Amino acid sequence: MSSGNLLTDNPELYEARFPDTDRLAGRWAADCLRRYGSGPRVLDIGCGTGRDAAYLHDTGRSVVGADLSEAMLTYARTHHPGPAYVRADLRGFRFPEHSFDAVVCLDSALLYCHTNDDLDGFLASCRRSLVPGGLLVAEMRNGAFFLGRTELLDAPVVRSFDWQGVAYASTTTLHVDRAAQLLRRTRVWTADDGSAPVEQRSAWRLLLPQELRYVLAAHGFEVLALYDGPGPRTEPAWQEGDAPGARLDGDRLHLVARLTPPT
Ligand SMILES: C[S@@+](CC[C@H](N)C(=O)[O-])C[C@H]1O[C@@H](n2cnc3c(N)ncnc32)[C@H](O)[C@@H]1O
Repeated sequence: MSSGNLLTDNPELYEARFPDTDRLAGRWAADCLRRYGSGPRVLDIGCGTGRDAAYLHDTGRSVVGADLSEAMLTYARTHHPGPAYVRADLRGFRFPEHSFDAVVCLDSALLYCHTNDDLDGFLASCRRSLVPGGLLVAEMRNGAFFLGRTELLDAPVVRSFDWQGVAYASTTTLHVDRAAQLLRRTRVWTADDGSAPVEQRSAWRLLLPQELRYVLAAHGFEVLALYDGPGPRTEPAWQEGDAPGARLDGDRLHLVARLTPPT
């Protein structure tokens, strides 16, 4: 068995496995930016294949997409042109001061901040890059969902799908590493094209809402909205015109925070 990150190494496969044909994530992010009055310059950090960055670009914004994966960036430049795409680590990135009116961070990319130092690095970088009053819009798993619930942990989840004539199956096992406060994932991919199985390991920080509020306040951000849905990856999904929710019980977190201007 070989190991690697099959999805971030193969962006086409990523989009096939997680299709968003209606551009729900991009539309939700655009709605947040409009609703809270953001200016036009947006950084999409952890931009992946670039489809949300390109959607925001197509709404008339000036967008930079940033990711750690060269494969993702190469794919984004070809398949989702418009934004500028650059390599950056969300745990500590440097753009000229005040270059952006908003930072967007979607589909749990923020949870690659595994440690408190990573989180501090992310928020300090956002603070430096944003104009005073700039927005942080993020969408991720909700660590609080796992308090007292084991439904996502009890058994491996097997998913199958066909792509370009090949049948793929993924078997995903999740477990909670309580000491590190991480949700660890092992995913084994098999394909019926004779290739060897691939094992992929990753982890997300289990961030709790109050912890998130605390660290945001420590970095000078005021929370404008923090709720579990509706969002682009909730059931039911967010639709145009839906207002931010008020609950925090489901397995996603949606965050809008404003960098408070210096007094
Ligand atoms: C689940 S994908 C989400 C991609 C995109 N935001 C979306 O919603 O489709 C997570 C992305 O974060 C990127 N990533 C992981 N660790 C990162 C880091 N330390 N800095 C920047 N990007 C990172 C991965 O390469 C991947 O593209």
